[in-house]
Amino acid sequence: MDSAKERRSAIAAAVADIRDIEKRDGVNRASLEKIKARLIQLAARTELFSAADFPPPAPGGNRHSCLYRLSEDADHRFALYANSARGGHGTPAHNHTTWAVIVGVTGEELNKFYERADEGGVREKGRDVVRQGTGVAFMPEDLHSIHIEAPLLNFHMYGLGLEQLHRREFYKEQERRWDVFPPHSDIREARELVT
Ligand SMILES: [Fe+2]
Repeated sequence: MDSAKERRSAIAAAVADIRDIEKRDGVNRASLEKIKARLIQLAARTELFSAADFPPPAPGGNRHSCLYRLSEDADHRFALYANSARGGHGTPAHNHTTWAVIVGVTGEELNKFYERADEGGVREKGRDVVRQGTGVAFMPEDLHSIHIEAPLLNFHMYGLGLEQLHRREFYKEQERRWDVFPPHSDIREARELVT
């Protein structure tokens, strides 16, 4: 089997299992742990997910990372992306309004976790580094920020595709106020790489 076919079949098998987990167990922390474990299994296939197949944006431009769509159902559920980053960037604290799971393929992504502070902003309550063999999982309302220093590839999976998410909130630290992300508009279609 060539590697594109191998990749297609590995992704399809993982997404099928993840659909089954959600159908059987619903969306809760325990089911998200199962989804995370299944994605970690997929991410272990590092030969199928290299930076050669999913390059980060070229140095010098505005973008530090890009998303490749690996899988998404016709109704936009179960959206799986490869995030390829060149590093040197991060995000503010934000939620997702759908469940979200990140697992590492190569490189390291620092995740900080937050709760909403009484005075209106956010308070850090922990952190974890996502790398090969590890991941993090979020309920729709959970808050995190990501911080990437060096090139990495990881998987981001969402209960609903990013282009459908119109109410993701993020905290503008300097202005001390919450705002809403515009729906993501720069996702590279990569299903042809896997079909
Ligand atoms: Fe996020």
